[in-house]
Amino acid sequence: MKERVQLGKSGLKVSPICFGCWQMGQTYWGKQPEDVLIRAVHTAFEYNVNFFDTADAYGDGIAEKILGKAIKELPRDKIIIATKVFHHFYPDGHRHPDLSKKYILYECEKSLERLGIDYIDLYQAHSYEIYTPMEEIAEAFEKLKREGKIRAYGVSNFTLEQLRLARKYGSFSTLQPYYNLLEPGIEKDLLPYCYGEKLGVLVYSPLLRGILTGKFTGKEVFSDLRANDLRFKGKRFQELVRKVEKLKPVAKDKGMSVTQLTLLTTLSHPAIHSAIVGIKNSAQIKEAAEVMRYKDLTLPEYYQVRSLLS
Ligand SMILES: NC(=O)c1ccc[n+]([C@@H]2O[C@H](COP(=O)([O-])OP(=O)(O)OC[C@H]3O[C@@H](n4cnc5c(N)ncnc54)[C@H](OP(=O)(O)O)[C@@H]3O)[C@@H](O)[C@H]2O)c1
Repeated sequence: MKERVQLGKSGLKVSPICFGCWQMGQTYWGKQPEDVLIRAVHTAFEYNVNFFDTADAYGDGIAEKILGKAIKELPRDKIIIATKVFHHFYPDGHRHPDLSKKYILYECEKSLERLGIDYIDLYQAHSYEIYTPMEEIAEAFEKLKREGKIRAYGVSNFTLEQLRLARKYGSFSTLQPYYNLLEPGIEKDLLPYCYGEKLGVLVYSPLLRGILTGKFTGKEVFSDLRANDLRFKGKRFQELVRKVEKLKPVAKDKGMSVTQLTLLTTLSHPAIHSAIVGIKNSAQIKEAAEVMRYKDLTLPEYYQVRSLLS
């Protein structure tokens, strides 16, 4: 597999493995020691991962601050920082959607401050916002690009129609959708569209929040966001775990882990440029990064994995 890919027409050259920073937010995923997270960022760089995805809303600024501390020691021109805007959050903890021009411009400055950088490589609308007209949203991103505060902009969690609408008004060049081999729904519409339009695609939750690593037995009880997720409970959880079990002999045969086989298969889709893996420590990013050293799967190998999970 190539260690750098063009992220569609965004102009950004990224590693196919992207370091996901939601876990740095110290909220939904429980608390992670800051030094462990910072070390994980440095491990990522050592293992040739140059792409980091965060959001202002991950811990209401906390994840951006931790990533900012970690990248101080890395060469700015050798890393690609993606962040997002959408949730207008307040010191008392309440929040609401906001992609008004005023908020996007304000929040971009705040993200730059928290990250300790003077430009963001990829600035994304975290979700579709109903109230603000798309012309206004596009105008804000375009202004930031003109001013050199961002290099490219894109969207996340948009439907096909929302994406078409956004592209009518602005040069949105990437999509960050939910995708994994057990829930590959966007293969029907969004992925073919993005491929045809040469949009950059960075998928999130490629490991289905850990299920596609093969590390669970189906009996685990969670205290983080997975505690309220029906896919991590009872029969549904056991069914998913049983499917993933089937990958174990195939992965072993290839001398890789189930996590690596999952990521390699995910990245075989021609529309997908990068898989954003949520990371808690150095060992996790090292295992993911090693995927970049493997040969691409052949067509029969690819469909073998897909049929085992279907
Ligand atoms: N745009 C959006 O709306 C959106 C939404 C969600 C996520 N994201 C982005 O996408 C990233 C990834 O998504 P995600 O966190 O939902 O799902 P994910 O990457 O499918 O799963 C993350 C979890 O997988 C486990 N893991 C990761 N690497 C591992 C390894 N090598 N071995 C064993 N376990 C491993 C960790 O679980 P343990 O806790 O069990 O260690 C981690 O918390 C996020 O960090 C964020 O940057 C974006």
